Amino acid sequence: MLDRRRFLTATTGLAATLAFRSPLLAQLEKAPANLPDHSLLDKNEDAYWAELRQQFLIPADEIYLNNGTVGSSPAPVLRAIFDGYNTTEKMDQQDPEDYPIWGYAAWNEFRGPLAAFVGCNRDEIALLRNATEANSYIANGIDMKPGDEVLMTDQEHPGGEHPWNLKAKRYGIVVRKVTLPRPVKNAAQVLNLFNHAITARTRVIFFSHITTFSGVVLPAKELSTFARSKGILSAIDGAHVPGMMRLNVRDIGCDMYSASPHKWLMAPKGSGFLYVRDEVIDRLWNTNATEGWDESPSFAPNASSESAARTSRCGGCAPRSSSPTISDSTGLNAAIAPWLTTSSRK
Ligand SMILES: Cc1ncc(COP(=O)(O)O)c(C=O)c1O
Repeated sequence: MLDRRRFLTATTGLAATLAFRSPLLAQLEKAPANLPDHSLLDKNEDAYWAELRQQFLIPADEIYLNNGTVGSSPAPVLRAIFDGYNTTEKMDQQDPEDYPIWGYAAWNEFRGPLAAFVGCNRDEIALLRNATEANSYIANGIDMKPGDEVLMTDQEHPGGEHPWNLKAKRYGIVVRKVTLPRPVKNAAQVLNLFNHAITARTRVIFFSHITTFSGVVLPAKELSTFARSKGILSAIDGAHVPGMMRLNVRDIGCDMYSASPHKWLMAPKGSGFLYVRDEVIDRLWNTNATEGWDESPSFAPNASSESAARTSRCGGCAPRSSSPTISDSTGLNAAIAPWLTTSSRK
């Protein structure tokens, strides 16, 4: 039996929850069900943006400009997150193996749209929590000997640089940097800097697609082609790119690409991904492991032993990787959805 005091505490908690819940849900209900039609942008730009503004919970007297840290998710994404909870929290699966726990399934319904959005195959994508985590997977997963070098720029974000600093402290690899001119004049200038800085020990070239300090867009395609021609792995920190610039990782030709769709794509907080080019999957060990990590994955039971080994070793593409929640991934799908329609891709 609840005593009076515990009953009051419990009901106060409930009232607080409802008080918190109702304005949020009421605000979401008020938001127009659909995003404004693209044609309105041509007809009346101000009306288009005013309608779009209603999709956000940001107070009306506030202007939010810090998507570079994290974006505010609009109503369709928030609704999708709640739908995700609605689906997963019922726990009505017959087979415990089907419970919505991460780490045991391929989650193709989430990796598929993301792969279509960034231009690669589904199995080249791992869902992670942010670019920092994906960068850590890269640094942790590549075999390097003491004295082997990673070459990066002097404008890397701490979430890109420090995974390598950790590896340097732990395993004796060497972090080397090129100093980017401010401003950068052209692609050739950057390419020259990297060309002069590589040595016989350079194993990885790591750089931001868009740097955090100056916002310069580095020549990702040229640097990736250059690295490949020298037998060096290319890993790109594209934290800022999804939602900011059109992205096609296969066209860039890099070996690995990390990003944070919770910035400019306004996906749920804790949405990140890692792309690993299929051909280099066997160069990256997984960081996260559970039972069966070295067996054929359940979604491809007939995989050849070679591809099973590659999949299970891949820090990026194995489903047995760390990942955001299902509801976050449901929200990520909603954030991507408008970009997969023809009109939004113009
Ligand atoms: C280039 C770059 N990489 C990584 C990060 C870290 O992003 P996150 O916190 O989403 O991992 C940032 C953050 O601004 C960044 O600018």
